[in-house]
Amino acid sequence: MRVLSGIQPSGGLHIGNYFGAIRQYLALQHGNDAFYFVADYHALTSVRDADRLRRAVFDVLADLLALGLDPEEATLFVQSDVPETTELAWLLSSVTPMGWLEKCVSYKDKVAQGIPAEHGLFAYPVLQAADILLYDADVVPVGQDQKQHLEVTRDIAERFNNVYGRGEPVFRLPEPYILETAAVVPGLDGRKMSKSYENTIEIFDEPKAILKKCKRIVTDSRPVEEPKDPEGDNLFQLFKLFAPADERTEVERRYRAGGIGYGEVKTRLAEHIAAHFAPARARRAEWVAHPARVSEVRAAGAEQARRAARVVLDRARAACGVA
Ligand code: TYM
Repeated sequence: MRVLSGIQPSGGLHIGNYFGAIRQYLALQHGNDAFYFVADYHALTSVRDADRLRRAVFDVLADLLALGLDPEEATLFVQSDVPETTELAWLLSSVTPMGWLEKCVSYKDKVAQGIPAEHGLFAYPVLQAADILLYDADVVPVGQDQKQHLEVTRDIAERFNNVYGRGEPVFRLPEPYILETAAVVPGLDGRKMSKSYENTIEIFDEPKAILKKCKRIVTDSRPVEEPKDPEGDNLFQLFKLFAPADERTEVERRYRAGGIGYGEVKTRLAEHIAAHFAPARARRAEWVAHPARVSEVRAAGAEQARRAARVVLDRARAACGVA
């Protein structure tokens, strides 16, 4: 199975990225033909500082390697190292109705807020379709927020196939892979965890910073002795992701019976998060101390990715008559 996914370099990775996507990247890298990339072309729609972008690309590469992405198992690359992506985006653009893009949320939200949007943001889903179709991906592990982009990708692929296919489809139709239990990881305020809401807990924060963040998680104001509803509680949803089964059951029981305070759960959650990522934090320090090794992984990944991309791009060019 060909697996592909991407992540934007727009700041430190958070635990929503981890449970919603990265954990699935790691599971699927074994026994599949997996491609994972840092989506720097996409980040140009929001990051406007060249040095910051370069640093952020390096950081995401180091983060993914530290979290266990194995360059022997999967191809790890940077989107802009494969300029074929932008050519395919143009071929796809030419068959994409404006109406499909007008419906896409990030563009629609910006316009609804009265903020002028750039063409890059409008065309973002076409670039994402190019990312996916360029590698003949079968499966795309993502969080729920990317579902719409996957639907547009499939629509564009079908449209291109119908227009140019001559009985043979040009593109393979990809399936999203969204894990039910982590489809939308909540942030400190209960909304989806997201950089733009400033409600994130970063994977590589120091334990002290993690505790500080956990203390800010919004709950209701029920005192210790009062029974509480674990399902409706944002803090418990985060706790559930980290605590082992027996501890989860114990805390859930005490929520329902009363006798547990949110403060205790926050402290225990912070300890779990810090412990969970401690080995990755140590591995990250190793990668950061040896940036040349990160560059080697990047260069090898670019070569492999370009080789795969060329096959599909040539097929698409031939199908539509530019070759
Ligand atoms: P990005 O960089 O915002 O997020 C990376 C991945 O993390 C998931 N995610 C979450 N999952 C659950 N709960 C959350 N709170 C949460 N926050 C983020 C995202 O769903 C995503 O899987 N457009 C994409 C990047 C992209 C891409 C692609 C993805 C570009 N090209 C091709 C797949 C295939 C994005 O901005 O993800």
